[in-house]
Amino acid sequence: MKNLSGKVVALTGAASGIGRCLAIQLADKGCHLALADVDRKGLEETIALLSGNTKVSMYIVDVADKDRVYAWAEEVVADHGQVDVIINNAGVASTTSIEDISYQDFDWVFNIVFYGVLYGTKAFLPYLRLRPEANIVNISSVNGFFPFPNNGPYNAAKHAVKGLNQTLIQELRNTNIRVTSVHPGGIKTNIVRNSRSADDFLEKDKKVKEFDKVAGTTAEKAASIIIGGLVKNRKRQLVGKDAVVIDLLVRMFPQGFSDLVGFAVGRKDRKSRQSAG
Ligand SMILES: NC(=O)c1ccc[n+]([C@@H]2O[C@H](COP(=O)([O-])OP(=O)(O)OC[C@H]3O[C@@H](n4cnc5c(N)ncnc54)[C@H](O)[C@@H]3O)[C@@H](O)[C@H]2O)c1
Repeated sequence: MKNLSGKVVALTGAASGIGRCLAIQLADKGCHLALADVDRKGLEETIALLSGNTKVSMYIVDVADKDRVYAWAEEVVADHGQVDVIINNAGVASTTSIEDISYQDFDWVFNIVFYGVLYGTKAFLPYLRLRPEANIVNISSVNGFFPFPNNGPYNAAKHAVKGLNQTLIQELRNTNIRVTSVHPGGIKTNIVRNSRSADDFLEKDKKVKEFDKVAGTTAEKAASIIIGGLVKNRKRQLVGKDAVVIDLLVRMFPQGFSDLVGFAVGRKDRKSRQSAG
């Protein structure tokens, strides 16, 4: 989609992080915005940061609620008359091993990260079909091609989002709709702060600080790279230098790289446990 000006973009997870920066930068490019999130206060803060005079509407939507997502798609078309782009960005994480995580927390992550993207894609597809050109941008992760320990439902869901995206690319290839599968590396946002954890030895604050240390890309930069991928109709968009390096390492050492990460994180966790008691 070369020219974003005047296009209607529906965006989930717009109250924070990458989603907030996408909203700000898309408004600067002349897009009309239909912004969704579960966090009303955060959405209002995002809207207060927007410049330009395009139309902006906000919706409280839990992306894990299928009926609400379908109703949202109808509301967007009723409010804006059309929709040209859906960006399925909302996401959450966990910091617990598969063995220890409750099914409740597993489902919380999986339902938002995978089913949220599926519902957003299927609910908007009929309206996207009606446009001369349209785009679906689904946010996966580098964890869509390699797992990080103690984040099992997220790893599984992001792999599933990648599979969904690749299937959509195949199935929609002769249509007006282009699909971008986005794979960010570490982006400095609230994702770990908002995660669920069953661990008692590493308190949240410490995990947030650890994440902030390794997350090498700002949310602003991530948003501009994602918009670049949208404008160029890229099928696959890596976000951040770490994502580029990880992508290469995973191709070269598909199992070895995963083993190395598992070993390194396991050793660090053991040390933290020992120093905690
Ligand atoms: N931050 C990273 O390092 C990183 C890396 C790879 C991929 N991602 C992905 O980027 C996307 C954006 O995450 P972020 O890093 O900006 O995190 P963030 O926590 O800053 O923002 C996530 C947003 O999603 C919203 N949200 C959570 N549950 C929701 C629900 N049920 N319905 C609607 N909205 C909901 C939150 O309220 C928040 O506004 C996510 O899909 C995430 O998995 C992030």
